[in-house]
Amino acid sequence: MNPTYYLTTPLYYVNAKPHIGHSYTEIAADALARWHRLIGKDVLFLTGTDEHGQKIEKAAVLAGMTPKEFTDKISLSFKELWQTLNISYDDFIRTTQDRHISAVQAVWKYLYEKNEIYSDTYRGLYCTPCENFWLESQVLKENDRLLCPDCKRPVERIEEDNFFLKLSKHQSWLIQYIRDHKGFIMPQTRRNEMLGFLENNTLQDLCISRPKSRLTWGIQSPISDAHVTYVWFDALINYISALGYGAEDAKLKKWWPADVHIIGKDILRHHAVYWPILLKALDLELPKMIFAHGWWVQGGEKMSKSRGNVVDPVNVVTQYGVDSYRYFLLSEAPFGEDGTFSEEALTDRFNHDLANDLGNLLYRSLTMCEKYFDGEIPITSKGVPTPLESSAAQLPGKLASFMGVLAFSQALQEIWALINQANKFIEEEAPWKAAKAGDTEKLKVTIINLIEVLKCIAQAVWPFLPATGEAIWSQLGLKGKPCDVPFKENMWGFFEKGGKVVKGAPLFPRIETKDNPPSVAGKKG
Ligand code: MSP
Repeated sequence: MNPTYYLTTPLYYVNAKPHIGHSYTEIAADALARWHRLIGKDVLFLTGTDEHGQKIEKAAVLAGMTPKEFTDKISLSFKELWQTLNISYDDFIRTTQDRHISAVQAVWKYLYEKNEIYSDTYRGLYCTPCENFWLESQVLKENDRLLCPDCKRPVERIEEDNFFLKLSKHQSWLIQYIRDHKGFIMPQTRRNEMLGFLENNTLQDLCISRPKSRLTWGIQSPISDAHVTYVWFDALINYISALGYGAEDAKLKKWWPADVHIIGKDILRHHAVYWPILLKALDLELPKMIFAHGWWVQGGEKMSKSRGNVVDPVNVVTQYGVDSYRYFLLSEAPFGEDGTFSEEALTDRFNHDLANDLGNLLYRSLTMCEKYFDGEIPITSKGVPTPLESSAAQLPGKLASFMGVLAFSQALQEIWALINQANKFIEEEAPWKAAKAGDTEKLKVTIINLIEVLKCIAQAVWPFLPATGEAIWSQLGLKGKPCDVPFKENMWGFFEKGGKVVKGAPLFPRIETKDNPPSVAGKKG
């Protein structure tokens, strides 16, 4: 049996169609899922949509639709975008599905019977856009207005009879758990932030319901006819409801605990405080890692629909292609830190890394294989080890350590170091000289080394740029996909029986800009 790897994204709110921020979480998760498949793991990649609550109910009213019609429509727009972006999720959960509703109700019952839940009156403030409860002492005061400390929009004063999950009784356990498990909250800055928060504040118990007199668009509480479930309590449970919590043990046993929950830093407290305590109360293990990535910002502010500064992924991929967009998001900013989106930066990376480095390497190598050997991959008698071989052998190990801590940009740098080493190898070996001198054996050795390294590169880039990895694969004359062959240390000699390349058009035709005239291209080979 292969080792398993279970990873999740947050469930996206369906109040509006997806933007760059959502696509970032999703593309990162996809690269990670594909990486683990490439190294032979049995992967479960879960994503989905968060469809209940006040904010969605309001958005539906505004659109003149019922919440059901509205959530069906927007949830579909997420699925469509994921298809466009080549996202290979295994399961898509919607919080309006029966399997989720019954799991949430099973959680309510378990916790109620265990005396982890009690009823009381909630007096405080509520931010609908963030779906968060706040205390008077936590909100911002601007003139006579009270504002949400996260999104800076006005909060509402509420007084409601509700149900609460006991948090404070688990506080010291959680602090100790985080201290003992260094990789539990990543990156370390976020871990320190959470430890600081927990060490300096007494946790307020979490309100987990809303009265039906105020909100009906939620999951019915099984212990009170008058209440529905608070949307965050509902949504977090998706990570186990998708595994059949309350209905089916086998799936939960196989996949839980999750290997990683990938989230944005804005929802860290929900995942690093509420969720672990909820799991503890449910007598379940904690996920192995919670990784909070940074934001795409513009003008120093988080991109969001309400700020009106969002980039639409569909426009970008229409202009630059899916893999260029994926490459830009994963290479431009270290995962965990904020990034700034600009078309200039994207064009620059496109021309430099994709067109010049990777695209040219493939095109030149296959052109030479066609020119000197009619496209037949040469079989050499001399198995001369080259520096390319040893670099390729080290790549899987290096990538494994970066991918283990979700360091996507560093993993890409490692792959590009090999791409550039291969480009340098062409310049140094100058196969056109060997051809001129009639040194066929040397020529063969050079070309076969390039073909072998391209095969390794096709596999290594595949998690990040799946269509590109597959295009290189088929241009090398190979059947299937790069993930069909184990990606491991001793991969040289794959073409020892030869083969035939099928060169295609350049993968990344350069984008012409003022600083990048077309004449920069046109290298030998
Ligand atoms: N529904 C909740 C999550 C519930 S999970 C049990 C939610 N949804 S969201 O649609 O608002 O956000 C989903 C993800 O998108 C979050 O990880 C968030 O950080 C990410 N992004 C939204 N805007 C973003 C940027 N501008 N930049 C990067 N990611 C951000 O929160």
